[in-house]
Amino acid sequence: MLSFFLMIFAYLLGSIPGGYIIGKYIHGIDIREYGSKNAGATNVLRTLGKKEGFLTLIFDGFKGYIVIKIALLLGLDDLFVILSGLAVIIGHNWPIFFQFKGGRGIATSIGILIGLSWQVFVTVVVIGLIPVVITKYVSLGSITGAVVLPWVMLLFGNPFWYLVFALAMSIMAIIRHISNIKRLIQGTERKLGEKYEISK
Ligand code: G3P
Repeated sequence: MLSFFLMIFAYLLGSIPGGYIIGKYIHGIDIREYGSKNAGATNVLRTLGKKEGFLTLIFDGFKGYIVIKIALLLGLDDLFVILSGLAVIIGHNWPIFFQFKGGRGIATSIGILIGLSWQVFVTVVVIGLIPVVITKYVSLGSITGAVVLPWVMLLFGNPFWYLVFALAMSIMAIIRHISNIKRLIQGTERKLGEKYEISK
C-alpha cells in the first residue's frame, strides 16, 4: 500500500516541471512555446538565462532525488524503488497538470542516480559531459549518457531491478530526444550558449 502511495506521489511530484513553473510565475511565459518547446533546464537556459536554467536543473533533479531517498528510507523492495523512480520521470515527461507536455527527464534521472548510486551518477555524468564539451550539443550528451547508463549500472554490479530501471530510463530518454536526434542529423540543433530570443 505504501509503495502504491509513493508511486502516485512520485508521479504527481514529477508532474510539476520546474521549467514551466519558473517560466510561468517568474517570467509570465509558457516555456513550452519557445526554443525546443521542452520544459527542461536546457531550454530554460537558452530562453530565459543561466540563473533560471540552473534553478530548473536543481528543481527537477531534486524531484528524482527525494522520491528515491523516500523509497530507500522506507525500505521498499527494489522493484518498488524503481517503480517510484519511473513514476517521477513519467510525471516529469508527461505531466498530468500540464497537458502531458513536460521535459525530457534528464535532470530528474540525474537526481535519481544521485540518490541510488553516486558511482553510477559520477561515471554517467562525466561520460555524458564529454560530447557536450566537444560539440556544445547538450542533447548529444544526454543521449550518450542514456546509452551508457545500463552498462555503467552493470559495471558497478547493481541488483537486477536497478539494471531494468537503467534500461527503462535509457529508453525513455532516447524516445524523448527523437526531435533532437532529427535536428542533430539535419544540423539544426542549437548549441550550448546559443540564445533563443523571445518576442512577447
Ligand atoms: O536534457 C534535455 C536536453 O538533452 C535537450 O534539451 O531543450 O535542447 O531539447 P532541448
